[in-house]
Amino acid sequence: MPTLLVVHHTPSPAMQALLEAARAGAALVPDVVVVTRPALSASASDLLAADAVLLGTPANLGYMSGALKVFFDTVYYPCLEATIGMPYGVYVHGQNDTTGAIRSIEKVATGLKWRLAVAPVLVTGEPGAADRQAVTELGGTLAATIA
Ligand SMILES: Cc1cc2nc3c(=O)[nH]c(=O)nc-3n(C[C@H](O)[C@H](O)[C@H](O)COP(=O)(O)O)c2cc1C
Repeated sequence: MPTLLVVHHTPSPAMQALLEAARAGAALVPDVVVVTRPALSASASDLLAADAVLLGTPANLGYMSGALKVFFDTVYYPCLEATIGMPYGVYVHGQNDTTGAIRSIEKVATGLKWRLAVAPVLVTGEPGAADRQAVTELGGTLAATIA
């Protein structure tokens, strides 16, 4: 069955709420396996076994989290050729400015030649119901692209 890999850094309850929303959306799509890995535990093997990737990170100092950067550093060269065209989606949570974080992710994804399959979801401040719903739809839409 097609596999959606969720790679996330989740250091707070707000981030946990968004992770759960993303997984709930993906789970609504039948016949897609959802594999969830903390960014510091995700491996090249996880990525090579996936058909799409959903990334979730806080904004940290105008960049993606260090944990997600470690993931990219881990998989970049081992997966550079094999994951060309990989559909991906991303949600970013920040206190007030996610601009640098999403830019940093899109820069690496461009280097990997991944394909942004769904518009990024950018959340600032305490995630509300509409934010969680947007992330649920993100997870569902990305899963649907590989179903
Ligand atoms: C070291 C550090 C750097 C941060 N940098 C940013 C930033 O550049 N932009 C931003 O919007 N939020 C920033 N934040 C806030 C985090 O994104 C936020 O704490 C995280 O998304 C979790 O949300 P919460 O603290 O509301 O639970 C930073 C937090 C930390 C600890």
